Amino acid sequence: MAVIAVYSVKGGVGKTTIAANLAWCSAAISRRRTLLWDLDPAGGAAFLFGLDANDPDRAAKLFAGKGGPDKAIRPSGFDRLDLLPADESLRGLESQLLALGKRRRLGKIAQALSREYERIILDCPPVLNEVSGQDDFAANHKQHPPILPVLSMYDARRRLHKETRAEWPNWPVIPMASLIERMADTKRPAGALAPSSPQAQSFARLWTAVERKLAKG
Ligand SMILES: Nc1ncnc2c1ncn2[C@@H]1O[C@H](COP(=O)(O)OP(=O)(O)O)[C@@H](O)[C@H]1O
Ligand SMILES: [Mg+2]
Repeated sequence: MAVIAVYSVKGGVGKTTIAANLAWCSAAISRRRTLLWDLDPAGGAAFLFGLDANDPDRAAKLFAGKGGPDKAIRPSGFDRLDLLPADESLRGLESQLLALGKRRRLGKIAQALSREYERIILDCPPVLNEVSGQDDFAANHKQHPPILPVLSMYDARRRLHKETRAEWPNWPVIPMASLIERMADTKRPAGALAPSSPQAQSFARLWTAVERKLAKG
């Protein structure tokens, strides 16, 4: 089992979109049993698959230590892909997610889920991006987790984007495109909506790069 965290220093940069599309690629292209785990109560990863993420009665309180994840997990509507919607006990507590107890809890739950899933994709809240968070994470895992930078919402008409791409030609690129934005209304990832589109292919290439990175360890 491998855990892939999608994070960035900013909000609104395409993290949730990338997490949702990567999760679909994992399940549909690599045919792996995959869980998309929404760690951002404001993020709406489950919403992108048509699930109401904010049902207070059904939301688990995983991080409050109440119950296991199985009751909270929902089918996505796509084969081999399940969703773990944002956790009620995370609401307002994002800043505490880095607290040691919460991280241990995350690790413990992920461990328990490793029997059922080959890939767990985390859609992270912006707070997980703090440098201190990464250091803690690395210390916890006794090594740096491999990192794969991505140029998200790439717009070739913008000079800064072009310059960044020229500087880092090997970084995977996800283009700025209305087809990608449409996942919010269609509830379908780019690969399901338009499999041969350049947008769907950009996510497939990113997923291949992730799998390659995992294989190298
Ligand atoms: N590659 C893209 N092209 C066009 N729109 C995008 C792209 N990625 C994300 N968006 C849109 O930008 C907004 C923020 O994306 P989101 O994935 O929620 O960002 P984050 O999770 O970083 O806050 C959403 O409306 C989403 O549909
Ligand atoms: Mg998000």
